[in-house]
Amino acid sequence: MTQETLRDFSTRWLPAIESEMRAMLSGDEPALAAYYGMMQYHMGWLNQTFQADHAAAGKRLRPLLCLLACAETGGDPAQALPAAAAIEILHNFSLVHDDIEDGDETRRHRATVWVLWGEPQAINVGDGMFALAFASMQRMTGHKVADATVLRALQIFTETCVALTEGQYLDMSFEQRGDVTVPEYMRMIQGKTAALVGASVAIGALVGGATPAQDASLQRFGQAIGLAFQIQDDILGIWGDPAVTGKAAGNDILRKKKSLPLLHALNDAQVGAQFGALMAGDIGPAQVTQAFNLLDKAGSRAYADGPERAA
Ligand code: IPE
Ligand code: IPE
Ligand code: MG
Ligand code: MG
Repeated sequence: MTQETLRDFSTRWLPAIESEMRAMLSGDEPALAAYYGMMQYHMGWLNQTFQADHAAAGKRLRPLLCLLACAETGGDPAQALPAAAAIEILHNFSLVHDDIEDGDETRRHRATVWVLWGEPQAINVGDGMFALAFASMQRMTGHKVADATVLRALQIFTETCVALTEGQYLDMSFEQRGDVTVPEYMRMIQGKTAALVGASVAIGALVGGATPAQDASLQRFGQAIGLAFQIQDDILGIWGDPAVTGKAAGNDILRKKKSLPLLHALNDAQVGAQFGALMAGDIGPAQVTQAFNLLDKAGSRAYADGPERAA
């Protein structure tokens, strides 16, 4: 598929993905209007007073990959729409909880759900989205997808949820450690990010009719994209422009997140000891500025970018 047709593919399928998700994240009961309203706020469809909004939504990378994998393996993407919606809803559940876990106040250029409605409601909104993601996946049975395929998709999806929370556990536990290794980091991002990107491709291809061997290969391909994607997100978490990314830069340093650039600086022959001492103490704005200087000195951005990007 050429770049131009990829854009056409997105233009064609994005509205269908959005309406599939809207159908899942809606309720009729007036008493629950704010509950679904908070979900719809997070998705970018409503503003914080629950009026219609056209806020910057997510990139919808994962559901598009799912439908693309379905199409490329000879299937009809319409059949995989409930799966694509399930994957994006699950991703968004993880973001609502991740923003509490990371103490992040901004996402997609707006206040995060916990900032507006408090942590208890944000936890509950995330829980609701988590369950509705599974409900969405099950809707494939109404799209003439064989029961065995739906069951296998649910199996991949369930394994992915476990992997994602394992990754989040490792991510948070690494905040307390100064001796995290690159293999440990790769294991962590495999769980928190690559598992779901891999599942997006695997589930789409499964519905498209891939053989088990093809499906496993495509899942690994998706995971590889996910790993690269997370490393790029790590770079943006330090050097990204908040006006572009819609989320704060520097918070990963404040939280002592062991993102790849930080790991590189910690292991650098020249600045490693100084960076380690900095990370072992209390971190405030002055220490963040110092950390930026040391990251620059160590060339940690070029390292995370990789040899081709750095050249
Ligand atoms: C953010 O994912 C969290 C990561 C796994 C890096 P995205 O960058 O895909 O977030 P949205 O959905 O486009 O906002
Ligand atoms: C990404 O978390 C993975 C999940 C949300 C499961 P991050 O904490 O690295 O992502 P951002 O930078 O907040 O989007
Ligand atoms: Mg985060
Ligand atoms: Mg996080």
